[in-house]
Amino acid sequence: MQEKFDLILQSAKSELESISNSKDLFDLKTKYLGKNGEITALLRGMKDLSPQERSSFGKLVNDLKTAVDALFVQKEQALKEKELEERFSKEAIDITLPGDKPKIGSLHPLNIVKNKILNAFMGMGFEVFEGPEIESDYYCFQALNIPKDHPARDMQDTFYITDNLLLRPHTSPGQVRTMEKKQPPIKILSPGRVYRADDDASHSPMFHQIEGLVVDKGVSLCDLKGLLDEFVRVIFDEDTKTRFRPSYFPFTEPSVEVDVTCCKCHGKGCSLCKGTGWIEILGAGIVNKKVLEMSGIDSDVYSGLAFGLGIERITMIKYGISDIRTLFENNVNFLKQFNRR
Ligand code: DAH
Repeated sequence: MQEKFDLILQSAKSELESISNSKDLFDLKTKYLGKNGEITALLRGMKDLSPQERSSFGKLVNDLKTAVDALFVQKEQALKEKELEERFSKEAIDITLPGDKPKIGSLHPLNIVKNKILNAFMGMGFEVFEGPEIESDYYCFQALNIPKDHPARDMQDTFYITDNLLLRPHTSPGQVRTMEKKQPPIKILSPGRVYRADDDASHSPMFHQIEGLVVDKGVSLCDLKGLLDEFVRVIFDEDTKTRFRPSYFPFTEPSVEVDVTCCKCHGKGCSLCKGTGWIEILGAGIVNKKVLEMSGIDSDVYSGLAFGLGIERITMIKYGISDIRTLFENNVNFLKQFNRR
């Protein structure tokens, strides 16, 4: 009997040795100790023995069961440790590897420049008024003293929606809408998108402008010059100079175009400024009396100054960008250059 039990123990031992995972271990345990297992069958067979046989046989079977049980517990423990170790090594992370840096976005260059411009003027007491992008002929042209035959009214230049409604070709209607609502003193900026049927390296059918308007008693060209000098100092270098050139706009009289000393060659003359040392940045002037009157401002008491600038143009000059389209393509490599954090 003892021999038979020794054999069972031996075979359990050797079978256990070849087991390498919990599933096989479970199956083997069932084979020996399960409901229909070999050792369970021996225990069950005891009831057919005589009382004397039963006691000696019972002791041997119990010893066998205890020994086999112990073997399984040992193996279970060993497997658990092995599996845990395998998991640890599989899931190990090398904490010495450099991490993935989160990509940080930045403002679009047009927004950087727009904010700079708005801040420069807001520091001088300007408020912001945003007008609608779909405007009427009245606000875009008539109220700004732009005559019926003016080229800006041409279908070639302006996107018409109906005979009377259009995508505003400039932000100057912001002047009119403000003056209609408010009596002087007025000091506003009107930023926003504008639209023109134009498309090449320096023109885009949609671009951004900022209109400025000051109306008060005794506003003069000197105020305009002082204001724009300060603005240019904030946007470009400290030593950038401005100059006024006589020009013509229907809504200002006199009208000027404003140049700054070239930010690349500082006035010496280079390819950017076409050898002149100067670059045009905006149009401005003293608000035409007719425009003030049409919007309900007494032109005998008040005078105004106005200016209008293109944000794309200023951005291109400031950063040396030669093609306006790069500002709208959203190429991340291009935009990344403006991440100054
Ligand atoms: N509205 C003009 C344009 O789009 C820009 C402009 C010129 C605005 C002179 C002004 C101004 O207020 O005084 O070209």
